[in-house]
Amino acid sequence: MPVDLSTTICGQTLTTCVYNASGPRTGSSDALSKVASSRSGAVLAKSATVEEQTGNPLPRTFQADGKGSLNSEGLPNKGIDYYISQNTIEESMGESGKPYFVSISGHNLADNLDMLKKIDKVSGISGVELNLACPNVIGHPIIAYDFEQMDSVLSAVAKLKLKKPLGVKMPPYFDGPHFEQAAKVLNKYKSSISYAASINTVGNALVIDTVAEMPAINPKGGFGGLSGPAVKYTALANVKKMRDLLDESIDVVGVGGVETGEDVFQFLLCGAQAVQVGTKHWIEGASCFDRIVGELEVLMEEKGYKSVEEFRGKLKPWSKAGASKSRAAKKKAGAGRSRADQAKIPVGKGGILPTMIVSFLLGLLLATAAFSALGGEVSMGGFVPFGSLLKIHDELEGARMGPRKKKVKEL
Ligand code: SIN
Repeated sequence: MPVDLSTTICGQTLTTCVYNASGPRTGSSDALSKVASSRSGAVLAKSATVEEQTGNPLPRTFQADGKGSLNSEGLPNKGIDYYISQNTIEESMGESGKPYFVSISGHNLADNLDMLKKIDKVSGISGVELNLACPNVIGHPIIAYDFEQMDSVLSAVAKLKLKKPLGVKMPPYFDGPHFEQAAKVLNKYKSSISYAASINTVGNALVIDTVAEMPAINPKGGFGGLSGPAVKYTALANVKKMRDLLDESIDVVGVGGVETGEDVFQFLLCGAQAVQVGTKHWIEGASCFDRIVGELEVLMEEKGYKSVEEFRGKLKPWSKAGASKSRAAKKKAGAGRSRADQAKIPVGKGGILPTMIVSFLLGLLLATAAFSALGGEVSMGGFVPFGSLLKIHDELEGARMGPRKKKVKEL
């Protein structure tokens, strides 16, 4: 039986619990339609401002080593009217029947309130994500790092009594009291907030170009939001903390460094209701949703889970029994890998034959040494010299180990 990957967000069913983050490849109906056609469970548009804007000066993004990416885009977007027009919604969503969400990140509170009022009147939009966490707007600190400001923004939003569900995009927190203060503010407005998405990029990171001795990107002196695998552990911690601290009526959506089905599984274990993918979508394109969802299915089947409900939020406490189960699984997987390596080595270049020859020659060497120690004499004509023996051993062992040594170097 196929596993059930569905979830609900904002009262809407998502056929899979994985969808795109607001960010790269979400600025146009063309890009959004690719997400809608994939196995993404929903579609979320780019953070909009009241008017169309081009964002920060180029170059403003950096993709490096597969560990982390940096951006300081400054919210380039086509303006809210574009993302809420029926034309855009139809072009983006086609016949997919999936939920369509918009995101807003106004220059100020008045902008956000105006956009929310507009969005609330439009059909075909399942919810709105209010970005409280963009680190890249020049002269504007991150709203959700200033708890008083966050409170007054959410208070004004709550007074609108929106019909559409509201999500909030949160920045990463790193310290216990900050998690608590943020959750306290969100809980105060629990009747207005459907979900909290944790985390936006880790703000104000800096990548240096060693050759040019300058920052890798142009805006804000090179400072930008860090994303990708480098932030996954911070994101997991934020999801776990938020799930523990938020009222249960507020869902937590996980986002940050998600690249694989296993990553999604980990976020779900920490209590995420759904998981968004940003940087990997940017790098790999919308096909990443098919791959990630497929990987999650396989992992769930292997573990015997039939639905995400069965393990969501069920992260177990650390235990000796768990650690030894994990060690045993790694050992088994390791043994499997070395068998596979050996199978790849052709007979004559490595594998069992050289090992037998080496063993025979070493045995001969030991017998010779023992014979000499007992006072016997060995005729060089009848035996392979010791140095040659070692050389043969090294060569054969080198041939046997060659592919594995290379692999280690590549890693
Ligand atoms: C940007 O446009 O600078 C990124 C958006 C964000 O981090 O919220």
